Amino acid sequence: MMKEFVMNPMPKVYFGKGALKQALEAEMPKVGPNVMLAYGGGSIKKNGIYDEVMNLLQAAGKNVVEFTGIMANPTYAKVQEGARIARERQVDFILAVGGGSVIDCCKVVSAQAKMEEDLWEAEFVKHVFPTQFIPMGAVTTASGTGSEMNSGAVITNEETHQKNGMGGALSSFAVLDPTYTLTVSMSQVISGAFDTFSHAMETYFGQPAENNVSDEVNEAIMRNTIHNIWKAIADPQDVEARSELMWDSAMAENGILKLGKVTDFQAHMIEHQLGAYTDCNHGQGLAVIHPRLYRHIYQNGLEKFKRYAVEVWKIDPTGMSDDEVALAGIEALEKFISEIGLPTTLSQMGITDVDMLKKVADSTILTAGCCKKLSHEEIFEILKECL
Ligand code: NZQ
Ligand code: ZN
Repeated sequence: MMKEFVMNPMPKVYFGKGALKQALEAEMPKVGPNVMLAYGGGSIKKNGIYDEVMNLLQAAGKNVVEFTGIMANPTYAKVQEGARIARERQVDFILAVGGGSVIDCCKVVSAQAKMEEDLWEAEFVKHVFPTQFIPMGAVTTASGTGSEMNSGAVITNEETHQKNGMGGALSSFAVLDPTYTLTVSMSQVISGAFDTFSHAMETYFGQPAENNVSDEVNEAIMRNTIHNIWKAIADPQDVEARSELMWDSAMAENGILKLGKVTDFQAHMIEHQLGAYTDCNHGQGLAVIHPRLYRHIYQNGLEKFKRYAVEVWKIDPTGMSDDEVALAGIEALEKFISEIGLPTTLSQMGITDVDMLKKVADSTILTAGCCKKLSHEEIFEILKECL
């Protein structure tokens, strides 16, 4: 029998060209007058999304409070800045307009603004999670993380050198207009899409490993992501490919692939700590870590790695041993990473400090493991192999 599960609610999704207008006209009458418009380093001012949002908010009669400069890999200090503004300006609703970083930052701002206590301390020391939030909505301008679809947020605490997943607000609605992603640099499109692929793999290799509907849907998402990364590279203006990647991203993190599964996310835990120490790009870090991690563990999950090779990478297993088939899948992943222009070593990302990698390994959260639970020592070995 399938493993029992509880399916959480998802934000209402407005998808497609023109979705922002449709969404804000429908949703803004439901919220209070003071709206915080949150965004990053200014890409939305260059590509016109800022003007579009501002016009719609003004047409809806809102008092707009801006919260800007949310950096990639948002910091806990930035969260505190946002929470301060939200309290001082009595914000009724937060509209996050950006990639995963902006959306994540707002999810935690939304919680911290309603809570006197320091949220980091509450979540990681007292294990108390927020229950009250300023309502929010998300407008995704760069896809990959799927952050708009869930309540998890990844925040860097620069003081403690930790990049942790925090519990935050779930958006009441998400706007996914693929045309908004056409101005994203190709290197970010690729690293974002690889992040999606990583989310799918980290879920697929979780338990149980046997056949189930979630894994079959997952295989389709993985194949579709690979196909559309190639299409987007071949034609950067291919909005069809951007649409598919945007929905792949949402599907990988809206909970559907995780139904009935215990997910792994060990590669993510390693990458997050690497990010805490180096501020590296998330998708690029994952691209370097995944193949080495899988070479370490595949023999403990041979059946699933074989299935992955055959179903995702179309390896013909005829005449091959189980070990050869599984390894051929990992080799196909490595070849793909290299051919789409992602880094294959940490050195290529400018990361060469072995002492720092030891700190990364020692501070990495250990997960249940998809097929093998790792130790901090093994993670250090993996990271050294990544150099
Ligand atoms: O800041 P601006 O100027 O907007 O520029 C951004 C940023 O430099 C730019 N960008 C975004 N939309 C654009 C655009 N440039 C041109 N045109 C547009 N339409 O893209 C750059 C990267 O943005 P960012 O939001 O940092 O990227 P991404 O969406 O990959 O998010 C990465 C963050 O999300 C976390 C990562 O760890 C990282 O901190 N993650 C969040 C997850 C979640 N909440 O579910 C899951 C993930 O595993 C991940 O850990
Ligand atoms: Zn990710």
